[in-house]
Amino acid sequence: MTSTASAPTADATSTRIWNFSAGPAVLPEPVLRQCQHDLWDIAGSGIGILEHSHRGPVFNGVIEAAEANCRAVGTIGEEYEVLFLPGGATTQFALIPMCFLPSGQTADYVNTGVWATKAIKEARKFGTVNVAFDGTASDFDHVPADDELSCTSDAAYLHYCSNNTIYGTQFPAPPPAASDVPLIVDASSDIFSRPIDVDRHAMIYAGAQKNLGPAGMALVIIRKDLVEKTPSDLPMMFDYRLHAKKGSRLNTPPTFGIYVMGRVFEWILEQGGLAAMATKNAEKAAVVYDAIDHAGGFYRGVARPESRSAMNVTFRTPSADLDAAFLEEAATHDMSGLKGHRDAGGLRASIYNAFPKRGCQVLAEFMGDFARRKG
Ligand SMILES: Cc1ncc(COP(=O)(O)O)c(C=O)c1O
Repeated sequence: MTSTASAPTADATSTRIWNFSAGPAVLPEPVLRQCQHDLWDIAGSGIGILEHSHRGPVFNGVIEAAEANCRAVGTIGEEYEVLFLPGGATTQFALIPMCFLPSGQTADYVNTGVWATKAIKEARKFGTVNVAFDGTASDFDHVPADDELSCTSDAAYLHYCSNNTIYGTQFPAPPPAASDVPLIVDASSDIFSRPIDVDRHAMIYAGAQKNLGPAGMALVIIRKDLVEKTPSDLPMMFDYRLHAKKGSRLNTPPTFGIYVMGRVFEWILEQGGLAAMATKNAEKAAVVYDAIDHAGGFYRGVARPESRSAMNVTFRTPSADLDAAFLEEAATHDMSGLKGHRDAGGLRASIYNAFPKRGCQVLAEFMGDFARRKG
C-alpha cells in the first residue's frame, strides 16, 4: 500500500484497494466476510454453500430468505414474482421480446446508450421496435425529458435503462408510460441504490454484478399478469411462467449467486433500506462531482448535469494523454478501475452501494491535487 489514506483493508494479510470497477464491482465487506465463512460451513451444517443440494433444506432456507429480504428491500407485493435467473441482463434483452412482443404489435424502446442499443437489437429479432428516443446524436449525454419521447399509443411495452453505466446518466424518475402499457426497466447498474416505484413497473430486471452479487445471473421482478403472457411453446429456460412455477429452480440454479444476493439484501436492510442507501449514494456522488466542478475547468463531466448518475461518474481531463497519466498515478494511490468504457473514453468512477464514502473522498483529494499540478 502506497497511499497514506487507508484503503478498505480489514485484516493484516489483505491488500485490498479502492475498486472503482463498473462491474463486477465492489461488494459489502460484511457480506464478503460472511461468504468466506459460509463457503466452508453454512448454518452449522458441516457443508459449504457451494456444496449444498439446491433442493435440500439448507438451500431452501437460503432462497426463501433471499426472496423475503428482496421483497422487504423493494417493498414488492405478492402480485409480483421475484425470480433469480441465470444468464445476466443480456439474456433478458432477448427473453423480453421473445415473450412479450407478439407479431402485429410494437415495443417502445428508449435508447440511452450501449446497453439499451443491445436490447433494441435483440428485440428487432422478434418483432417491431419503435425507438421512442434516440440519444445517439448527443453522444448519449442525457436521458430524455418526458417531452422528448415519442411513444406508440398501444405499445406491447415500454423499455428503458434506468442507469447508463457507460455514459454515467441516470433517469431521475421513470419515463411516463400509458397506464395500459407495461413499463420494463433494465436496472442493472442502479438496482436498490434508491427507492424504486415498483408499482409503476411491470418488470424490473438487473444483472447481478454491480449492486447485487456475482456476475452471470439476473434478478427479475415481474408482475404476474405479464408472466401469464408468456407463450406456451418456448424452450423451458426461456419461459418465465415455468421459472415462476418452479420457484427459480427449474434446473440447478446459480445457488451461490442467490446466496450472495440474499446476504446483500440483508445488508441493505441493516443499512436502513433504500432511503438510507439513496442518501449515502447522493453524498458519495456529490463528493466526486464537486471535485469535477471545482477544479477550475480542468475536468469536464460527460453527462449533462440534470442527467448525472449517482452510480457511475464519468469525466475527462483536457486530453487523452492526461487521462492516461491520471490512471497511472491513481494506480499508485491504490485506486483501480477508473478507465472509462472504450465506447465513451475518458474516466469513470463507479461508486455502487457497497463503495465506501471514504474512497470517494480519496479520489476527490487526488483529483484536486492532479488538477493543480497538471492544469
Ligand atoms: C445497464 C446494463 N445493462 C445490461 C448489462 C449487461 O449485463 P450482463 O453482462 O449481466 O448481461 C450491463 C453490464 O454492464 C449494464 O451495465
